[in-house]
Amino acid sequence: MGMTMIKIFDTTLRDGEQSPGVNLNQLEKLEIARQLERLRVDRIEAGFPASSKGDFEAVKAIAQTIKNSSVIGLSRAVQSDIEAAWEALRVAEEPCLHLFLATSPIHMKYKLKMTPEQVIETSVNMVKYAKKKFPFIEWSAEDASRSDLDFLARIIEKVIEAGANVINLPDTVGYTTPEEYGKMFRYIREHVPNIDQVALSCHCHDDLGMAVANSLAAIENGVTQVEGTINGIGERAGNAALEEVVIALKIRSDFYPYETNLKLDELKRTSDLVAKLTGMVVQPNKAVIGRNAYAHESGIHQDGVLKNAQTYEIITPELVGVHSNNLVLGKHSGRHAFKEKVVELGFTLSEEKLNQAFGQFKQLTDHKKEVTDEDLFTILMEIQTNANTVQKYQLEMIQVQYGSANIPTATVSVKTPEDKIVQTACTGNGSVEALYKTIAALITEETNLLDYQISSIGGGKDALAEAYVQVKVNGEIMNGRGTASDVLEASAHAYINAVNKYLIKQSSVVKEPTAIK
Ligand code: KIV
Ligand code: ZN
Repeated sequence: MGMTMIKIFDTTLRDGEQSPGVNLNQLEKLEIARQLERLRVDRIEAGFPASSKGDFEAVKAIAQTIKNSSVIGLSRAVQSDIEAAWEALRVAEEPCLHLFLATSPIHMKYKLKMTPEQVIETSVNMVKYAKKKFPFIEWSAEDASRSDLDFLARIIEKVIEAGANVINLPDTVGYTTPEEYGKMFRYIREHVPNIDQVALSCHCHDDLGMAVANSLAAIENGVTQVEGTINGIGERAGNAALEEVVIALKIRSDFYPYETNLKLDELKRTSDLVAKLTGMVVQPNKAVIGRNAYAHESGIHQDGVLKNAQTYEIITPELVGVHSNNLVLGKHSGRHAFKEKVVELGFTLSEEKLNQAFGQFKQLTDHKKEVTDEDLFTILMEIQTNANTVQKYQLEMIQVQYGSANIPTATVSVKTPEDKIVQTACTGNGSVEALYKTIAALITEETNLLDYQISSIGGGKDALAEAYVQVKVNGEIMNGRGTASDVLEASAHAYINAVNKYLIKQSSVVKEPTAIK
């Protein structure tokens, strides 16, 4: 039997970005979009243009930049959303619209306050309206898995007549089971007379931990497009993890006669980039992409793997782009070797950013004998995604005094968005508390630390420190990250980064985004 091609629809930048506390700026979104293009996903859902000026601009920039994956934007079934999406996406090679309206009794009655007939009429009218502009429309029945099947069949027939190209049936609240979800697609294929005119798509959430299994069941029942996110990030328990879906199809191709266009050895880089930029750290035992996924701990397993890797290893690390023998750079590495490394790590930097990166690399070699790929990846990613379009806070100096018999005291000086240098000192119960109290005293925004994580990049005593924080800034939850040779300096950068992200967001928000699962 021939293999059926499954399209991959990535919604990391839309549904994934709705993870609590995740707030990517435009450069960060562009960098992820470029990586998704390298991974060769078929569609990139770049955002929800009507939700904010920031999202609008990011979708537009992605539509302008990405040429080898199609770029799609989300829209509610209202004219103003469709118009905003059109303005953002008209520059794309093939402007694509993702239009949605809920179809389950609970959503129609309580959320939309619409009758089923009104939901049909609105969907049909909005698909027709959008079709005047967009050559390609995906229509989603939000909460499809809790909808009445006859109603679903009826509305799908009508939106296909109106011009939809893809019908997506999401498990919006992660409630369904593989058997039930597969049955729903079978029912629709059997009961919608014009279903052959469109492609069917699945979109699963992971509330019961079944998003990947449900997606595979949908594929077995005629779906030819899978929606999901890298690392499975997303609102609540997240979305189906795309790396798991595609690797399951690959490794069990004896069972699943399907293939995708993905360049699988780009999965690790994609996962790393998404994890670092979103601050959503991947659990070590995460399937396919976790740090421990290729580590064999027990003696019996190690012995087996040494004799024949397939005894305990069903996926080779190389398949997903995990490489262990990295060529390291050091103090004596010159600009030429550095430039080659930048290209090898997948970055395209302007001359100015390359010089900046080389400078930081040289500085790092003062503290660190061997600079690994992971160190460089972090430095390059920071430089590539650092938005300097708005006035922000900059850390000028920190000094922290700690002794087990003394009160920890921090002195910090910061350059404010108004270009003034301010300095103060505070004490705390520990060094980090003293540091964060001092920074909070220097900035005008109201801040409250919610979460703090510190880790090392790679191993060794001289490893770079990477700090992630979640800070409530003027009531809004923001993520921040910082990297430095010293843990306290990395911590200070992370806190200030969260505040700066808030400032960037404020400068781009025009209205409150609508919550969508
Ligand atoms: O989960 C969902 O229903 C969604 C829709 C907007 C497609 O994300
Ligand atoms: Zn969703």
